[in-house]
Amino acid sequence: MKVVSTVKELGMLLDTYRCEGKSIALVPTMGALHAGHASLVERAVLENDVVVVSIFVNPTQFNDKNDLNNYPRTLEADCVLLERVGVTVVFAPAVEEMYPAEDTRVFSFAPLDTVMEGACRPGHFNGVAQIVSKLFYAVEPDRAYFGEKDFQQLAIIREMVRQLSLDVEIIGCPIVREPDGLAMSSRNTLLSADERERALVISRTLFDSLAFAKENTLAATRVFVENAINGTPGLELEYYQIVDGNTLQEIAEWEDSDFAVGCIALFCGKVRLIDNIKYKGGK
Ligand code: PAF
Repeated sequence: MKVVSTVKELGMLLDTYRCEGKSIALVPTMGALHAGHASLVERAVLENDVVVVSIFVNPTQFNDKNDLNNYPRTLEADCVLLERVGVTVVFAPAVEEMYPAEDTRVFSFAPLDTVMEGACRPGHFNGVAQIVSKLFYAVEPDRAYFGEKDFQQLAIIREMVRQLSLDVEIIGCPIVREPDGLAMSSRNTLLSADERERALVISRTLFDSLAFAKENTLAATRVFVENAINGTPGLELEYYQIVDGNTLQEIAEWEDSDFAVGCIALFCGKVRLIDNIKYKGGK
């Protein structure tokens, strides 16, 4: 496994693989890798000749400076995990490498980016599009792998690829959960033991709501989830929306969409967590 930190080095390395006719995959990450990332990388290794994993805590997608400063950084441990699962190249650039000049590009993915995370975290998806497009230009991957935990991000990246006419196949991979149900996230390491216990209510509620939804209206299901979260001390709900999985717009009745997904964002103490659940359709 090679670890490179400049776009130039990366390009030279990948050119040699490309000349040999090898397929190239990219798994973009911000590091602090866990089993969820490992599942993306393992799939990429199975489906491609060469796998590049980028590790870069992208400042332009953080709308909260504290969140950026507190984001876990564990490059050495990350590289151990990546070597074990058979990654070819780790790309771990410095901020100046990815942003030699201010990136003034402004993307619009309306209406996908005006709701949920887009509404709560102004500029977040613009920053994601800035860095992911730069990574796509640097790697020119045949395929790129993203987790469905960031459900809205996945939809926006697909739209970005369409808008920029990029020749990359976007592969969405299912959420990986801890044995007790908590969706894996780099931010989970920031939870105290007490908060970690409370955070369990999130996945438990979402799974309970699947059974509830079978017998109840969409509005009642939303209230069921809201009440369970709001009734748990230490959890502060930011939103729970049941949306069409393609347009990401809220639906009012189950009959309004063939693909209904519940998306949640909340604070567990000071740690912001997201999760989602499919009620209807999707893969
Ligand atoms: O999902 C993430 O970890 C990040 O948003 C991504 C896609 C690596 C871009 O920084």
